[in-house]
Amino acid sequence: MNNQNIADAMRIKLEDVFKELPAKKAFDETKRRAPKREFTLSERETVLALQNALRYIPERWHETLAEEFLEELLTTGRIYGYRFRPEGEIKGNSIDDYQGKCIEGKAFQVMIDNNLDFDIALYPYELVTYGETGQVCQNWMQYQLIKAYLKELTQDQTLVLESGHPVGLFKSHPEAPRVILTNGLLIGEYDNTENWHRLMQLGVTNYGQMTAGGWMYIGPQGIVHGTYSTILNAGRDKLGIPKDEDLKGRLFVTSGLGGMSGAQGKACNIAGGVSIIAEVDISRIETRHEQGWVDSIAKDPEEAFEQAEKYLEKKEAHAIAFHGNIVDLLEYAVNENKHIDLLSDQTSCHAVYEGGYCPQGLTFEERTNLLGENKEEFINLVDKTLRRHFELIQKLVERGVYFFDYGNSFMKAVSDAGVIEICKNGENAIDGFIFPSYVEDILGPLLFDYGYGPFRWVCLSGKKEDLLKTDEAAMSCIDPDRRFQDRDNYMWIKDADKNKLVVGTQARILYSDAFGRMRIALKFNEMVRKGIVGPIMLGRDHHDTGGTDSPFRETSNIKDGSNLCADMATQCFAGNAARGMSLVALHNGGGVGIGKVINGGFGMVLDGSHRVDQILERSMLWDVMGGVARRAWARNENSISTCMEYNDVREGTDHITLPYIVDEKMLKDLVKGKYPSK
Ligand SMILES: NC(=O)c1ccc[n+]([C@@H]2O[C@H](COP(=O)([O-])OP(=O)(O)OC[C@H]3O[C@@H](n4cnc5c(N)ncnc54)[C@H](O)[C@@H]3O)[C@@H](O)[C@H]2O)c1
Repeated sequence: MNNQNIADAMRIKLEDVFKELPAKKAFDETKRRAPKREFTLSERETVLALQNALRYIPERWHETLAEEFLEELLTTGRIYGYRFRPEGEIKGNSIDDYQGKCIEGKAFQVMIDNNLDFDIALYPYELVTYGETGQVCQNWMQYQLIKAYLKELTQDQTLVLESGHPVGLFKSHPEAPRVILTNGLLIGEYDNTENWHRLMQLGVTNYGQMTAGGWMYIGPQGIVHGTYSTILNAGRDKLGIPKDEDLKGRLFVTSGLGGMSGAQGKACNIAGGVSIIAEVDISRIETRHEQGWVDSIAKDPEEAFEQAEKYLEKKEAHAIAFHGNIVDLLEYAVNENKHIDLLSDQTSCHAVYEGGYCPQGLTFEERTNLLGENKEEFINLVDKTLRRHFELIQKLVERGVYFFDYGNSFMKAVSDAGVIEICKNGENAIDGFIFPSYVEDILGPLLFDYGYGPFRWVCLSGKKEDLLKTDEAAMSCIDPDRRFQDRDNYMWIKDADKNKLVVGTQARILYSDAFGRMRIALKFNEMVRKGIVGPIMLGRDHHDTGGTDSPFRETSNIKDGSNLCADMATQCFAGNAARGMSLVALHNGGGVGIGKVINGGFGMVLDGSHRVDQILERSMLWDVMGGVARRAWARNENSISTCMEYNDVREGTDHITLPYIVDEKMLKDLVKGKYPSK
């Protein structure tokens, strides 16, 4: 066996994309770059990492690239294979601009490129779409090979990807998924950040976040609707705002203007409120300001609150970016006794020691330098800041502010920093924390338990008029008088174009329940069939009713003890594959970090065919109701009633097991006194 035989045995390989070794390319200095990830490999492991990366590379380039890859590993903590990045900017273009042997093969190329668009991706050169570490795949060799495979993919094959590595094409059939992918899955005993970090350096795993590695990210819009629903309902539930009113005259204070957090200002504006969002990185503030996602910039806390008070008085919506640390902003609010209604945080605490959370007293640039130069000191400062952050929140909560964790692992990070008081049981995180998570209190009971979740679509033609037609069609599928959630969703889609939400491809998010999603999906496919619009990609965030098992987030309102189980997300993934979704994804990590969540998602290409109608009819309801069923079994009331109705409507087709309700007091009395003493 030699490399010539191996090359001859492959039909799809890197040297078919690049006949010659591509030249090194300059970086656009204005673009954000990922911080240096800590390099911890031993000498032996470094050799292994190089060997691993060079598996993609023909022998004649080994010498040159071995040296270059070693340099990348030592200076960035990863081998990205920068040289293989396409020249210039990447954009998700019209599907007609891509080559392929089936529509799905072309459609997924649009999605991948949209995830890496300079206007969308957090660190486009490092293939990071959002959430500090969420990558489309591990390196540019994989990107090129995935693209090459997608061009070859036919209706009778399935492309298999493991943590960004294209394992290959395997025979399947037209009603099977065209792509099955997994990211970051680890063996239980080794399923932790430390191992993951070593494996990332070795080039054998990928942190896909949720929609980064599942190729379904649609820019910050994807999260605006969820954020809008969360803060609006927090206001209604916690501040006593009536169900038909909004956040007029109310102040929301938070942090982060990154990939997802960047949605906060816009969402609060749509909900009618005033927001102050702390952000340490000026480039992110500028991006959001240019996009119109924040309205003004304040350079110190005093200016931020002054601006806020002006708009609160006028009861006008306004989003203010404060350039600085959230902890400095809260110090000011506490010292000056400033009124805040709703308080949260969206720094990247799921990757708190990898640069996701900036210590107090450091500028963004100083944070980046310290991270590369002295990790121990960096960790010390992060922990110190987290402890102070917690104290300030406590003081504000005592004054009546409603604080909620925004699913960024903030409370877990605080407890890891040694603040045991934040744990509900005063010992460890296993029973959750003293402050509510946004899913536990708001999104879970009010939306997920009914099946409402972040359904979305991309108009693959890239045409704005297609998006407008789909907005209209989706609106016609919602009855605003059914529930308050339907009314909110109706208002959302009615104003979606006016709110200028699109960054990147022509995409839309619309929270919907199971039947709502199916109605919209079938309607869209019919529109494609009739030639009213071009092909459409349907999908959703993994952060949904049934897609994610995450005890401190998506499943934080599951109270039957099964919040540590990951059966639901795995079943959702397998069930979607069995029913023929075009792409199915299953990830470890995402949102809260490795070992803390299993999540999955799908992509479904609408080509107008009757074959696709049939797939939609058998998969769209399953994708949501598997989750509602699990929530019902955990005795969540809104899910039980949703499933009771479902069993009735779907009699003869589907059937869900429901829990009997037991008198808890009777059980408590029974157990009392009989519990064996330790
Ligand atoms: N929006 C949502 O609905 C949602 C849902 C679930 C989880 N999350 C979580 O929210 C977090 C943020 O996601 P993202 O995609 O925006 O990440 P991101 O890394 O793109 O953005 C976080 C931002 O916080 C800033 N920051 C860090 N420390 C700071 C500090 N001390 N003060 C002020 N600014 C600071 C960073 O500069 C960065 O721009 C992640 O942990 C993500 O998993 C968001």
